[in-house]
Amino acid sequence: MRRQRRVRIWVRGIMVFFAGGLFLGSSVWAEESGQCPQPRFTGKAPDAVYNLKNPLEPNPENLSAGEVLFQNRAKPMPCKMCHGVKGDGQGPMSKGFDPPPRNFTCAQTINGVPDGQLFWIIQNGSPGTGMLAFKSLKDDQVWQVVLFIRKLVQP
Ligand code: HEC
Repeated sequence: MRRQRRVRIWVRGIMVFFAGGLFLGSSVWAEESGQCPQPRFTGKAPDAVYNLKNPLEPNPENLSAGEVLFQNRAKPMPCKMCHGVKGDGQGPMSKGFDPPPRNFTCAQTINGVPDGQLFWIIQNGSPGTGMLAFKSLKDDQVWQVVLFIRKLVQP
């Protein structure tokens, strides 16, 4: 009788230990939004798209069209909701996502990502993450947003 009780206490102790470990582990390992450099595990675009250069000039018209889409017009939801008004990856909805939204202000992470890759993910999303596919945007609109994203990078 007494022995059984002792075993039960041990089992409970071990369970609490593991649950605590899981809890601590998940809060330590979950990536935070806005990190820089930000680890990046996003799938690569097909080569033909990956190697595309932005065909549009970064002139004021294209940049402001990109900005309007990013901040307000993009459907189903403007980019700023997750990526933040400044593009730092800390928009009002950013907390719910692991991996977190890309931090476009982070030169170390974003400068190594080519235009064609940004274009592909905006059109097709990043499967298994919070990044949606923006099928409603025309090619030129996606390129305009890519121009605007490049302007968000902090030196
Ligand atoms: C609902 C939240 C959400 C919205 C809205 C959103 N994103 Fe994202 N975005 C994410 C998340 C989460 C990731 C990280 C995905 C990953 O790590 O693969 C991401 C990643 C990206 C990337 C990274 C691609 C790469 O290869 O590194 C680009 C570019 C991007 N988003 C552009 C946009 C643009 C442009 C818009 C608006 C048209 C937008 N996103 C709207 C959540 C969002």
